[in-house]
Amino acid sequence: MRIDIVTLFPEMFEGFLTGSLLGDAREAGILDVRPRNLRDFATGRHRQVDDRPFGGGPGMLLMPGPVVACVEAVQSDPSAAAPGRVILLTPGGRPLDQALVEELAAEPRLVLVCGRYEGFDARIRETLGAEEISIGDYVLSGGEPAAMVVIDAVARLVPGVLGDERSARDDSFSGAERLVEGPQYTRPREFRGLEVPEVLTSGDHRRIARWRREQAAEATRRRGSDAEPRGATSQPDTRQTERSMP
Ligand code: ADE
Repeated sequence: MRIDIVTLFPEMFEGFLTGSLLGDAREAGILDVRPRNLRDFATGRHRQVDDRPFGGGPGMLLMPGPVVACVEAVQSDPSAAAPGRVILLTPGGRPLDQALVEELAAEPRLVLVCGRYEGFDARIRETLGAEEISIGDYVLSGGEPAAMVVIDAVARLVPGVLGDERSARDDSFSGAERLVEGPQYTRPREFRGLEVPEVLTSGDHRRIARWRREQAAEATRRRGSDAEPRGATSQPDTRQTERSMP
């Protein structure tokens, strides 16, 4: 899979792309992720990429010229087979969820465009036939952290990136029911008086599978009731065990 990133801050991706899972996947040739500096496509003496919005208002917008030129240059790279699905990271975009992550992971190529300032000139989306994705209902100072979230979630679904394909299949929000995972335990069997549920050490795989399904349904139900006031939701006491894991 090929992912191109259009950004004014390519250096923000350095640690992210060389660390652990992504670094290994890139070295193994499973993932090809390339940040591209938008500033290289700026024009004029001041290498300008942004300007004030027509009609007034606060902040600056990314100008269409440099963004479109950068994406078109990236897309014309003969080393990539497909032009790629072009995605602008914006707070007003389609909310990212696991179903969308699965959809993106099936693409041969993505082009992620990170905004800065107040956003993009609307003609960028139109000219590029781009879509917009948001990682949540809050405003970041730029699209870079959002692009990293998208890349991380997508990359782990690309075959060969995770050591064990089951761990992606069993994730929260995966599968037809989109359940949240229930509590899990590792050693020791007893921690500060908290015991691992007996069923998990029983060796009875059918009982274990049933217990896990029930726990997942319960966790999903509990999470869905977020109409409750803050603090009213009783967290399962497994929290403490999870946080204290070695
Ligand atoms: N850029 C700024 N805020 C964002 C958000 N919530 N999601 C995606 N891109 C963004």
